Amino acid sequence: KLWQVTKQHIDREEENVQAAAALLKKREVVAFPTETVYGLGADATNEQAVKRIFEAKGRPSDNPLIVHVAKKEQIEQLVTHISDQAHALIDAFTPGPLTVIMPSNGVCARNVTAGLDSVGVRVPDHPVAKALLEASDLPLAAPSANRSGKPSPTTAAHVYDDLNGRVAGILDGGATGVGVESTVVDCTGEVPVILRPGGVTKEALEAVVGTVKLDASLHDKKEPPRAPGMKYTHYAPDAPLWLIDGDVVFFQAQIDRLREEGRRVGVIASEETSAHLRANRVQTCGSQHDLHQVAVHLYDALRSFDQDEIDIILAETFASEGIGVAIMNRLSKAASKTVQPSE
Ligand code: TXA
Ligand code: MG
Repeated sequence: KLWQVTKQHIDREEENVQAAAALLKKREVVAFPTETVYGLGADATNEQAVKRIFEAKGRPSDNPLIVHVAKKEQIEQLVTHISDQAHALIDAFTPGPLTVIMPSNGVCARNVTAGLDSVGVRVPDHPVAKALLEASDLPLAAPSANRSGKPSPTTAAHVYDDLNGRVAGILDGGATGVGVESTVVDCTGEVPVILRPGGVTKEALEAVVGTVKLDASLHDKKEPPRAPGMKYTHYAPDAPLWLIDGDVVFFQAQIDRLREEGRRVGVIASEETSAHLRANRVQTCGSQHDLHQVAVHLYDALRSFDQDEIDIILAETFASEGIGVAIMNRLSKAASKTVQPSE
C-alpha cells in the first residue's frame, strides 16, 4: 500500500501516519522518508519485528541496523553512556544526518546490533519520520529501504520497485533532501572515528570536537571495515559500473572504444562534463561546483539505468572533499573498476 504524505501536508495526511504507526505496533515493517534516504522501519525493541527487516531486504544478519528516535533526549534510553564527544556531536548535528555509535544498554533487540555491544542511534530531520516516530512511540530500527546491494532509495517509487509485496506499507514523503546516508561516527573510543562518510562532513565534525579519524578501510582497501555493512557490495546498478578518472577526451575515448565493441554505454557525469560527452545515454547529476546537488541525484542516476538497455555505465570521479567524500565512497563501492590514463 502506497500512501501519499507530503512534507507540507503532514496534518492533512495524519491518518496515514497513524495507520503506519499501528502497523509498526503490530510488529510489521513500514518504509518512511528521512532527510537522507528512505528507511525500512520496525520496532527496535522486538526481535521478531526486526527479523522482518532483514528478510524484506535480504540483508546479511551480521550487519547491524541504525536505530531512530524522535528526540535527542530519547537517546539515553538506549545506551549505557554518552561520552562528552558524543554529547557535543549530538547537540551540534541532531536532528540531522548523523549516526552516533555508543555502548548499547540492551533495550534494543539483539538482532538490531547483530550481536555487537554498541548501537548506532540517530534523530532524523524529516517531518514525516518525526511524526511516525512520535505516533508509534517506539525506537525504530531502520536501514535504508532498498534490497540489499542496490542503491539506497531517495523516492517512494524506488522503495516500491525494490520492496513491493515485501513490506506492510510505504509512507511517501516525496524525494529526500540530502541524497546520501547519514555519517556514521563511532564514539566508543578515545577519538571519534567515521565508519561511513555521509551527510555531515568530516570538516564539520572536527569543528565541534577537534580531531576525527577516518576508519582505515576508507583509505586503505586492504583494511577490513569496522562498520560491518561497509564490507558488502553496495549501491550497485544492474549493469557494471566503471569509474573514469581522466579528462573529457579520455572519457570520450573510453565510451567510443566500448561502443565499437557493440556495447551500449550509459554515462553518469556532472553538467560540465556531460556537455562534452556522446554515449547511448548521458545522465547528468548536478554541477561539479555544487556537490550537494550531486549527492541528491546520485542514487536516482544509478537506478535510472536499470530501466534502460544499457550494458555498461561509466561514471565521472568527483573531488574527495566535503560531501564529495561520501559521493566517492558510494561510487567506488558501486564500481567494479577504475580506468585511468596510462603514463
Ligand atoms: O541515513 C541513514 O543512515 C539511513 C536512514 C534510513 O536513516 N539508514 C542507513 O542504514 O543507511 P543502513 O542500515 O543501510 O546502514 C547502517 C550502517 C551500516 O554500514 C552498518 O554496518 C553501520 O551503519 N552500523 C550500524 N550499527 C553499527 C554498530 N553498532 N557498529 C558499527 N557499525 C554500525
Ligand atoms: Mg543501506
